[in-house]
Amino acid sequence: MKKIMILNGAGKKKGNTSAMIDAFREGAAGSEITEFYLQTMNIHGCLDCGGCGRKEKGSAEPCVQKDDMQQIYAALRVADVIVFASPVYFWDITGTLKTAIDRLYAPLVNKAAGNPKGTVLLMTSGGSTIAHMLDWYANFKDWLKWEDLGTAMNDPDAARKIGESIR
Ligand SMILES: Cc1cc2nc3c(=O)[nH]c(=O)nc-3n(C[C@H](O)[C@H](O)[C@H](O)COP(=O)(O)O)c2cc1C
Repeated sequence: MKKIMILNGAGKKKGNTSAMIDAFREGAAGSEITEFYLQTMNIHGCLDCGGCGRKEKGSAEPCVQKDDMQQIYAALRVADVIVFASPVYFWDITGTLKTAIDRLYAPLVNKAAGNPKGTVLLMTSGGSTIAHMLDWYANFKDWLKWEDLGTAMNDPDAARKIGESIR
């Protein structure tokens, strides 16, 4: 059984992005899924203070900041798959999701992220393509040496199929 962590960067709790996430969850039924609705969480930006590099490796608290990222770090440690979900805001992922992603720097530098992950990108938009995000996503997962398990855009059926392929 796979452990899946979803980072939901949408502004709306019930909208197009949550519909994509719901479809993905249906497909991945039977997996252990932890979803973080980032909009209501207390998550600050990365300080680039270098504190994560100075802590003992594999720390349970890899970042010096004590905010809701601690919950995400705990889930990350055991997750097999991370789902990044976001609407397009001005041709990009939301600032909400990007802020949380920047904070993943701490467990990565601190070697506290656990096993290598598979990644999924779920996005919705009003019409723009996600070419720009796919570029970002490719660079990001290559740098991390994580495996792309699929991307879906404005297509709940595609999201469901990705979920089914992971289960
Ligand atoms: C601040 C903001 C910026 C947006 N920028 C874009 C954009 O650049 N391109 C686009 O196609 N849609 C854009 N949209 C539309 C959303 O991406 C689209 O409605 C999305 O499906 C909303 O997801 P949600 O229902 O989960 O909130 C924007 C919406 C907002 C609120």
